[in-house]
Amino acid sequence: MIDKLVRKNIKEMKSYTSARMLYESGVFFDANENALGSTIDLPGMPELNRYPEPYSKKLRSALGAFLKINDKNIFAGNGSDEIIDLLIRVFVEPNESVLIIEPTYGMYRVAAETAGVNVQSCSLTEEFQIDVPSVVKSITPETKIIFCCSPNNPTSNLLRAQDIEELCGQFNGIVVVDEAYIEFASKPSLANKVEKFENLVILRTFSKIWGLAGIRVGYCIADSRVIEYLDKIKAPYNVNRISSAIATSAVQSNSKTSEFRDIILRERARMAARLKEMGFTVYPSDANFLLVRYPDVSKISKKLAEESNLIIREFDSKKLLENCVRISVATPEQNDLLLSAIKKLI
Ligand SMILES: Cc1ncc(COP(=O)(O)O)c(C=O)c1O
Repeated sequence: MIDKLVRKNIKEMKSYTSARMLYESGVFFDANENALGSTIDLPGMPELNRYPEPYSKKLRSALGAFLKINDKNIFAGNGSDEIIDLLIRVFVEPNESVLIIEPTYGMYRVAAETAGVNVQSCSLTEEFQIDVPSVVKSITPETKIIFCCSPNNPTSNLLRAQDIEELCGQFNGIVVVDEAYIEFASKPSLANKVEKFENLVILRTFSKIWGLAGIRVGYCIADSRVIEYLDKIKAPYNVNRISSAIATSAVQSNSKTSEFRDIILRERARMAARLKEMGFTVYPSDANFLLVRYPDVSKISKKLAEESNLIIREFDSKKLLENCVRISVATPEQNDLLLSAIKKLI
């Protein structure tokens, strides 16, 4: 199925062969690096003058061991944003389309529009779930990827697993499930469904629970054919040496994720309760943020920024999100600051 879905030119093209794909070790005269060294020395980061290993093998292997998934089913990218872009470039011809279920993470649309492919949009239901019959009805022969985000940004809820599985079964294209926030959720990842559905791609990131948004590393779990095509078109050294080393060591030590999770879930519940007391509608959250609704909330949001330098995200103008803002759960002290500033304004 995967080979049939891939764009013809991607199937036929020869991928770039970088120096480190040809030789992994030796005295290197082959990549025009600076053999004298680097202009800066970072402790614990040797050989910054050398290109990184092209496939982030150590990182994939650490992730494989951590997730109990074969390395062949894992791809590492420069943030999951890079993987969104690569998936569109592997599978969607310019006259074809991606289907997004809105409101959702804005980069699916931006990546598709940047690639010059069409964007079909379906609405989430009032409960922020997938309207499966309506999505299935919208699918055309040109639809190549459906993007689902679970837990969804910005609505904060998990999508029903059975709906996603139904889409995977009914759709002759790729179903991407973006699980950027899954570690904060009350239900498990769908990663183990990749064995059952070869068209399922799970996106993950180091930017949320791992606290590593600054290093730009994301990964996906998918059928090995999908991984091979992503490897075929990716830039030669897409994950840099520093980021790869940091992400690998984070996975191998995994020392803080459960502590982070506990604190964020506790704070999430506390903030939700306080905001409800203040009259906000607070949507149930499976993520590290809350979607809340309040009359004329954009005025509150602007005042918070102007008067207190507290920045929350407005979604006011989007369908289903009238008078809504998204608030990331932060430290207990920062959350207290925000809650008391909001209290003063309402
Ligand atoms: C749903 C979702 N996917 C992906 C990303 C981006 O992830 P990364 O930092 O790995 O590019 C975000 C960032 O906020 C997000 O909300």
